[in-house]
Amino acid sequence: MNIVDIINKTKRSLPLSDAEINWMVKSFTEGGIPDYQMAAWLMAVCLNGLTESETLALTYAMRDSGDTLELDIPMTVDKHSTGGIGDKTTLIVGPAAAACGLCVAKMSGRGLGFTGGTIDKLESIRGLRTDLSTDKFTEILKTTGFSVISQSETLCPADKKIYALRNATGTVDSIPLICASIMSKKLATNADCLLLDVKWGSGAFMKKRDDAERLAALMERIGKAAGKKCRAVVTDMNTPLGDNVGNALEVKEALEILRGEKKGALYDLCTELTAQLLELAGKGEHDACLKMAAQAISSGKALDVFRRTIALQGGDARVCDDLSLLPAASNSYRLRAVCDMEILSVNSEEIGMTSLLLGAGRLTSDDIPDMSAGIVINCKPGDILSAGDTIMTFYSSVCSDFTETAFRGLNAIRFRSIEEGSSE
Ligand code: URA
Repeated sequence: MNIVDIINKTKRSLPLSDAEINWMVKSFTEGGIPDYQMAAWLMAVCLNGLTESETLALTYAMRDSGDTLELDIPMTVDKHSTGGIGDKTTLIVGPAAAACGLCVAKMSGRGLGFTGGTIDKLESIRGLRTDLSTDKFTEILKTTGFSVISQSETLCPADKKIYALRNATGTVDSIPLICASIMSKKLATNADCLLLDVKWGSGAFMKKRDDAERLAALMERIGKAAGKKCRAVVTDMNTPLGDNVGNALEVKEALEILRGEKKGALYDLCTELTAQLLELAGKGEHDACLKMAAQAISSGKALDVFRRTIALQGGDARVCDDLSLLPAASNSYRLRAVCDMEILSVNSEEIGMTSLLLGAGRLTSDDIPDMSAGIVINCKPGDILSAGDTIMTFYSSVCSDFTETAFRGLNAIRFRSIEEGSSE
């Protein structure tokens, strides 16, 4: 087989055989195809797309480039979000679903750019380890029903190499490539039931709802074709999810929800996602599952699952009862309203970029995030603020001059000045 023929076929929208796709993925992973040829093929995919059977073959080839997780557990479930700003749903949905009898086996990545990874968030809890052996992971799952481990080096090495190349060549935003990248890792993690939360909006990969719907439908079909119970939902990421953005701040907010202290859009999304998982796993009709999800939180059972999981993963579980044990920033700054105003929108992407300036994310995969850094947003679209009210508060232990952050943070807010009737 020949990579130039393969590039030419995709360039002319001619279908590739499974054998060609397998050969290309294997050869590239083993170093037999140089980056410039693989990048040319990736660009051809970006421009011309792939058929569904090519996407399935690419997904399988990437899954089979490494190990598949085999757990000695009868049925596991997984919930995956395509990433967004302030998305701490795993920390709430995982314990809530486990409290309802499911076994939530989650393998997650670290964040890159402004989208925070679940592993980073969890590691803001003192002592908590996510580099667990398969035996330890299984033991925790059998005990509490919920555990999160970091993605192993041997899981989908093809995706690791291809994703790095896509990042460097402007070939990330392709629906079949995103689908194959995510689904290969999900299939290698091997859960029986898979719930996919596909985000759309300013803080998501998919800026347009239509694209998110196409990606969601494709991922659901690929999951089902691979023999999984699979469902994809499309949710909004134009506005940050919840009030807190940043690793420890997001754990704090997740704990506030699990402690029954907070409701709102984040709580609603988490109970809905938990209900979807329960329904997918055959626990009942949607309304009954929604009630079970709410009760798992109101009864404290979900918090108890989280507490026990933290302890078994080596973390300081006292954090569940004492939020002050989370890392706290040494510097903070309140951005205040200069006039009476109505908040029209809070742009997720700008909030994400602001949190990056504070040190909460990673510009390169070697960066170490400031666990205490982030933003607490005090307003949502439709709110009326008086002059002097706090719009948002910035936290950081690595940044002490908040001038640039304040400009960027203010840029995230579109408001209408009430005195002048003008909008900004
Ligand atoms: N997340 C992934 O793992 N891969 C993509 O291509 C996009 C988001």
